[in-house]
Order: sequence, then structure tokens, then C-alpha cells
Amino acid sequence: LVLVLDFGGQYNQLIARRVREHHVYCEVKPYKTPLEEIRAMHPIGIIFTGGPNSVYDEKSPKCDPALFELGIPVLGICYGCQLMAHTLGGEVTAAQEDTAREYGKTDTFYNTGCKLFKGLPEQGISWMSHGDYMAKVPEGFSLVAHTEMCPTAAIADEARGFYGVQYHPEVNHTENGTLMLKNFLYEVCGAKGDWTMEDYKNSSIKSIREKVGDGKVLLALSGGVDSSVAAALLAEAVGNQLTCVFVDHGLMRKDEGDEVEAAFAKWDINFIRVDAEKRFLDKLAGISDPETKRKIIGEEFIRVFEEEGKKIGKVDYLVQGTIYPDVIESGAGDAAVIKSHHNVGGLPDFVDFKEIIEPLRLLFKDEVRQLGRELDLPEYLVMRQPFPGPGLAIRVIGEITREKLDILREADFIFRDEVAKAGLEHTMNQYFAVLTNMRSVGVMGDGRTYDYTVALRSVTTTDFMTADWARIPYEVLDRVSVRIVNEVGHINRIVYDITSKPPATIEWE
Ligand code: XMP
Repeated sequence: LVLVLDFGGQYNQLIARRVREHHVYCEVKPYKTPLEEIRAMHPIGIIFTGGPNSVYDEKSPKCDPALFELGIPVLGICYGCQLMAHTLGGEVTAAQEDTAREYGKTDTFYNTGCKLFKGLPEQGISWMSHGDYMAKVPEGFSLVAHTEMCPTAAIADEARGFYGVQYHPEVNHTENGTLMLKNFLYEVCGAKGDWTMEDYKNSSIKSIREKVGDGKVLLALSGGVDSSVAAALLAEAVGNQLTCVFVDHGLMRKDEGDEVEAAFAKWDINFIRVDAEKRFLDKLAGISDPETKRKIIGEEFIRVFEEEGKKIGKVDYLVQGTIYPDVIESGAGDAAVIKSHHNVGGLPDFVDFKEIIEPLRLLFKDEVRQLGRELDLPEYLVMRQPFPGPGLAIRVIGEITREKLDILREADFIFRDEVAKAGLEHTMNQYFAVLTNMRSVGVMGDGRTYDYTVALRSVTTTDFMTADWARIPYEVLDRVSVRIVNEVGHINRIVYDITSKPPATIEWE
């Protein structure tokens, strides 16, 4: 185990993730974790994260100096580096205007004789973000990296296994940063690198069992990757103590509801699929405003879940499929509401429960998928692209009818089918069809048609906050177009959406 001590930096979970990427188990704990507890965990190494404070500020988070007496290697990053220097007798000051305050990409020179930089290039870009400066390093430390402005970009006391870096090795902008972390883990801490997602699964199952005991657990399943993986994990851990409520709002893609149900058939859990299509469609009848649609669906979802919850009665735990990016985003402040995203599984305050379990809270999306594979969920579920909570309701532009939904389901299926056949799934992050409410004149056989236009949307993106439209080969678009107009009724025109986000959004509503 490697312990990441959290001093409030922005990249703490990213550090943890990088450690796991090198197959070393790691946990993030608050900086206040008592020394006894740390000792009892028997970490092979400790990483101090960055943080927004200045070590010479009295109120800034500190660590117990005895931590350095445990004989455990320590890597301090940014604030963590300064804290180590400060605690061990060095001197940290505010950087003067023209000296060592650095932000962003910085050319850095490394001493490759140091274990941290072993086998790596002597020069590279590092990502700096600090306003403080180590004016004097503690006794026993030497300078092992520098930049033009700063002689103390990295320090090391190799005899004691203490290393400190001013920059952030965990972010992609730092060239070879993850290899430096790897050197710390393998060369300094002696990690074996034998930790796998299977271990993560097993340890999660164990801790869930300990926590839940013989309690009752309730989970709202949306059919998306996160809630499905959370459900599978709980199913594996507590079996029939788990009730999954799968609200089928009739706004899913073709065959999706059945696929989800089938994926959970192998577990002995209490699986409730609520067929609520009619309820949702009745509520949505005649509504064309996007925000109103979203609100109706969000509310109706809660109502249905509430009714089911009442039937079940008191539960002890409620499971949520929150993943790490959700945790970051929810802390991100007051961004303007562009669309009121709703995530099924959102906190229903009406269900009587004791505590919430968020078993995926520390995982990034690709780790969640990997965990899903470990749990033997089918690949189509594990690799599912993001799908909005309100489902196809926001992909049928304007008023929603069952007929329109069916048309869209078929068109969307053909698009996905052709993308798969062309082997292009992994070249785009989200792709789907939209049924516009525009009708236009066409000719089929010898007759005039007046039918709907389908828009195809496909984007590449890393964070879904910005996106570019995908350059799908014309031949593929052509096959999709020909098939849709031939195989699906009431469509006589196909367009391809070539706007990025911004100014457009990914979804049309
Ligand atoms: P937009 O359209 O805002 O979408 O560019 C960004 C990403 O979010 C998804 N999306 C949603 N996801 N509930 C969700 O869980 C929602 O209400 C919702 N609306 C949009 C969208 O599919 C894209 O991946």
C-alpha cells in the first residue's frame, strides 16, 4: 500500500490513479490522519499532495514531524515538497517577483543519477504551479532538478528516501511525470507492482460486506455504465440483500432495457424492472420545451422510484454510482446552467435509509469499465457510450410520441451498427441519431414524400465539456444514410451535424 496524504490539492485523486496505473495499491487519506493509523497501515511509501496554502502560514495544514522517523520513503509534490522542506529544517518563502514563482509548462533539467529520474531524459517540460520558493533545503538534501528560474525544482535525500518536486509529475503536461512516479514506487519504495483491478474488486467486496452486514441495500439502476457496475459489485458482495430498481421509462435505445435486465439475471438479487413507459409518455405528451421535458422526466423518475421504495420499506443503505469526475465536477462551483442534467440515482430524500454507499467514488471512467469487466458484465454494457438521463426524449426534438421514439430507435440503431461494422467505435466518444421536427419534401419511387429529417451527431472529446465533430468517412455516412431511408419509415432526409461544442452542445436539447 502506498498512502497519499491529501493536503487539499486539485490533483490528489489523479495521483492515486497514477499509482494504481503502475499496479500499486494506494489510498488517499486526509493529512490529519493520526500517526498511529498510518503506521498500522504499513505503507511502503507516502506521497504528500499539493495544496493551495503556504507552509509559513500558521493555519496551513501540517504533518506530524514524527512521520519522517518511520523509515518510510516520502515523495512530496508541490506544497507537499515545501512542507517536507519546512518540517525538516529548510526554509520556504514567498517567491519574489522575478525569481522562482512559476506557473505552467517549464523547461526542467534533471540529475539522472537520482533514483527518481533514473533512465529518463535529462531535460523535459514540467508543469509548475507554485508561488513559494525553497530558499534553503534541509540538511541531507541535495538539489536534483532545476529550471532557469528555480534551482530547487526537485530535492532528494536518497539515504532516507525523501524526495520532493516543485512541479506536478501526475499531470500529462509533465513529460515522463508518470515514469518519475513509477521510479519512486519501484526504485525507492520497492513496490512489486502486483496489484490489479481484481484485487480492487475483492477488497471492495470485502469492505462492502463488512459495512453492510445483514442490512438491506437499495440501488436505482439506470442502465448506464456507472450504475450497472455499482450494481454488479453490490450484487457480488451482498446478493439478495440488494434490491435494484430499474425504471424503464421507455426512452431507452433499441433493446437496451432487455439487455440490462439480461445482464443481471445471473445474480440472486431482487431485481425490479418497472415498466413506466406509459406514465412518462403521458406526462410528456404535448411538451416541446427541452427544459420542461428534462424536469418532467427527472421528477417522474423520482416519483416512480419513491413508489417502489415505499413498497420495499426501510432500507439500510442506498447505493450511488458516483464516480470520481462527478466528485470533482460537483465541487467545481457555480457554472451557468446550460442544461439541467439529471442523473438517475440522484439523491431521493424520501427513501428511509441510514447511509449512502458510493463504491466507485475513487475511480475514473476507464477504471469503472475495467471493474465491470472483472465482474463479468457483458462488453456492450461495460463499453456503453454516455447516454443522457432523459434518454431519447431529448433526441426527439419537439413533441414526443411513441411513434417518433420508435423511428428514432431504428435510425439510431442503424447508425451504431454501421459505425461498429466499420470498426470506428473507438475513434469517437459519442455518436447517435436525432429526430428533428423538421419535415421536408422528397421523392420515393414515383411519389412525393413529406417526411422527417434525421440528424446524425458524432463527437470526439476528452471531457464532454468541449467537443469536436467527428470526421466520419463519407462512405460510412453514405451507408448509414442509404440504410436509414430504406429501412425506417417516415424519414426522407439525413443530415450530419458539423458543429463543435461550443457553440453547439453535444445533444440537441
Ligand atoms: P451537452 O449536450 O450538454 O452534453 O453537450 C454533454 C454530455 O452530457 C450528456 N448529457 C446528460 N447526461 N443527464 C446525463 O446524465 C442529462 O440530463 C444529460 N444531458 C446531456 C450528453 O449526452 C453528453 O455526453
